[in-house]
Amino acid sequence: MTGLSDPRYRALAATQFSSVTPENAMKWERVEGNRHAHTWAAADAIARFATENDQKLRGHTLVWHDQLPRWLTDGHFTPAELRTLLRTHVTTLAQRYAGAVTAWDVVNEPLDDDGSPHRTLWHDALGSDYIAQVLTWAHAADPGARLYLNEFNVHEESPKTKALYNLAASLLDRGVPLHGIGFQCHLLLGQDVSELARTLNRFAELGLEVAITELGVRMLSPVTSAKLAAQAACYRAVVEECLAVPACTGLTIWGVGDAAAWVPEGSRSPYGSPTLYDDEYRPKPAREAVARALGTVP
Ligand code: XIL
Repeated sequence: MTGLSDPRYRALAATQFSSVTPENAMKWERVEGNRHAHTWAAADAIARFATENDQKLRGHTLVWHDQLPRWLTDGHFTPAELRTLLRTHVTTLAQRYAGAVTAWDVVNEPLDDDGSPHRTLWHDALGSDYIAQVLTWAHAADPGARLYLNEFNVHEESPKTKALYNLAASLLDRGVPLHGIGFQCHLLLGQDVSELARTLNRFAELGLEVAITELGVRMLSPVTSAKLAAQAACYRAVVEECLAVPACTGLTIWGVGDAAAWVPEGSRSPYGSPTLYDDEYRPKPAREAVARALGTVP
């Protein structure tokens, strides 16, 4: 939710969605940019927004290698110190939003495309078992929240998808509190999503929930009506695949409108327009396609 100050954004976010996620406001650099000086206002406002609008709140994200505060990345901490810092961070956030957050993206993007663990501050200091530890800490802090691993580029079979499956299976085998897998789904127009439902089902067979957590379908500029139609078809396919999988608990679109979407976001990227509403918050063809797939349009 990066556009909350715009009344058009607020109105759509309040009325068109049954679940919200903060996008950035709960990331470590935002809640503790200065050590020991927490800034909760933005994250609290989103939690309040969800309550006021009777929406679920998806927490994002407890552990990631990106958007960390400088004091942490430049702090030259020992592994033992990093472990304590991480534990405190996870516990503080999960406790603060206990009861408000339905599900947490606990660990974000833990794997590389070749399936090996992504080498991060956390992995290097604590070893690959940091994932089991943070899930355990998060569960202790908020036993009611559904706990997810969240990953990108896993909507079809690949070395990364296989590694994620093996990781999830081994965590479950060990009794680690893992409840679901988030499939980010930042898609590029033209990408094949026909294997999505099958992939979701494979994870569901482990006894896990699954969710589409960051859906977007970006396109190369210029935007044309043909591209918008293809985008609508892609959105519709993804929604239908989630609906076809009983374990698919939800679908989050990464941004309300193209006006405040994270692609191209300040860069000169030729890609953009990933969401359901355009730069003026007018509905795009994809908006109707999603509504049709959900059965909310006659
Ligand atoms: C993005 C935000 O949307 C941007 O505003 C921010 O500048 C960078 O992060 N995968 C994730 C999200 O899990 O947290 C990222 O969000 C997009 C990619």
